Amino acid sequence: NSRIKIKSLLESDETGHDVTIMGWVRTKRSNKNVSFIALNDGSTIKNYQAVADPNLIPEDILKKITTGACIKVTGEIVQSQGAGQQTEIISKSIEILGEADPEKFPLQPKKHSLEFLREIAHLRMRTNTFGAIFRVRHALAFAVHKYFNDKGFFYIHTPIITASDAEGAGETFRVTTLDLKNPPKTDKGEIDYKEDFFERETNLTVSGQLEGELAAMALSEIYTFGPTFRAENSNTARHLAEFWMIEPEMAFFDAEDNQNLAEDFLKYVISYALENCQDDLVFLDQRASEEDQAKKVELRSEMGLLERLNFVVNNEFERITYTEAIHILKNSTPNKKKKFQFLIEDWGVDLQSEHERFLVEKHFKKPVILTDYPKEIKSFYMRQNDDGKTVAAMDILFPGIGEIVGGSQREERLELLTKRMEEMDIPQEEMWWYLDTRRFGAAPHAGFGLGFERMVLFVTGMSNIRDVIAFPRTPGNAEF
Ligand code: 4AD
Ligand code: MG
Repeated sequence: NSRIKIKSLLESDETGHDVTIMGWVRTKRSNKNVSFIALNDGSTIKNYQAVADPNLIPEDILKKITTGACIKVTGEIVQSQGAGQQTEIISKSIEILGEADPEKFPLQPKKHSLEFLREIAHLRMRTNTFGAIFRVRHALAFAVHKYFNDKGFFYIHTPIITASDAEGAGETFRVTTLDLKNPPKTDKGEIDYKEDFFERETNLTVSGQLEGELAAMALSEIYTFGPTFRAENSNTARHLAEFWMIEPEMAFFDAEDNQNLAEDFLKYVISYALENCQDDLVFLDQRASEEDQAKKVELRSEMGLLERLNFVVNNEFERITYTEAIHILKNSTPNKKKKFQFLIEDWGVDLQSEHERFLVEKHFKKPVILTDYPKEIKSFYMRQNDDGKTVAAMDILFPGIGEIVGGSQREERLELLTKRMEEMDIPQEEMWWYLDTRRFGAAPHAGFGLGFERMVLFVTGMSNIRDVIAFPRTPGNAEF
């Protein structure tokens, strides 16, 4: 097929040759003498103008060129008369590849609400906004692989079906082939999972970290990039039941090395998008500022999207401990009336998103790496600090997002790890394989997890995580 993509057509100002383009009609403007068709093929946010002369293109074809239809245009590239575009195509023949009945096609050339577009997620990628989002998402994913590959990290594929709950939060989706209406029972009357496909209870993975740690104990620097699943019933604009996570894990890294890598990595990925997705980001910047103005989004209005991305890339992240954060919060007045004090009685409580956002958006006004959390509110595998109270954890908080990264140095000392597992009721017999890494050739190591959709959210300036993954999985939503 001799099709040429609109993106490459726009990159050259050559004229006088014939080409074939294919794509979806965005708009058609007609008068008696001529029709102007704006065609988009997804290779770029820009449309390409096809000119159709009713003397050359039969009327029954012209009639079917409606918004949403898919067409193939063959013709000559000429200098464009109109503004905003160097060249255009004078159609010699047009073929209708797929009609779109204007009475029924839901995407008309006007502004549709994001809520409406979520209901037609199977079509929304054909809008400018979603086209831009998914091109940026692609660039970010590519940048993740490029970053780690260039640093000599190895990409590990960890299993989707597991028998463990890495985060110990009990928010797993079960996987079973048993007939749950009539399950086999043990003598005690409980469901007999020995009869199940894997001869045990299994679930979808919540994190590839534990397997990643095993790999780091052999290849030294690895990363995972795969889907993870959490049955947490948080119906927020930041949570998905199915999301993609990037989890690097490094032998011989301590907590500070881990923080340095995470900061460098986040900046790289954002810069990559800034360099490679200009058209889309300019469009999204404009979209976000219109949304901010319409909604008066107080926290984001200080900087535009592009400005914010450049700011994050060019400024050092703030690094503070949990204890310091509590101190700041205790002495802060988030708005004229109330202090945070009423929420934070004691050292040891988990921070709520309003606290995180206050630190990032109001107090420091930049990304914050929060470290050394109380061990009670963090996972069993985090390395215990000498104070006996805190662990070598880090969360990275971003403006407009909150937590984007969670990570830690890992507890490599067998005795301390098993004692902690006992305290937290984590079954050690089932985790014998994990504990083996501490028995044989244990090494200090650290790692973190980046929630990929939260990164896409940040870079695209969208405000709901459901709009940065093609087919969001949230409570009650798995239609498409
Ligand atoms: O903080 P979390 O739970 O950490 C882990 O899973 C570790 N095993 C990571 C590691 O050290 N290797 O999750 C990591 C990140 C969060 O910071 C957040 O960005 C994202 O994953 N995340 C979610 N994103 C969307 N929807 C959800 N329900 C998410 N839960 C976590
Ligand atoms: Mg976390």
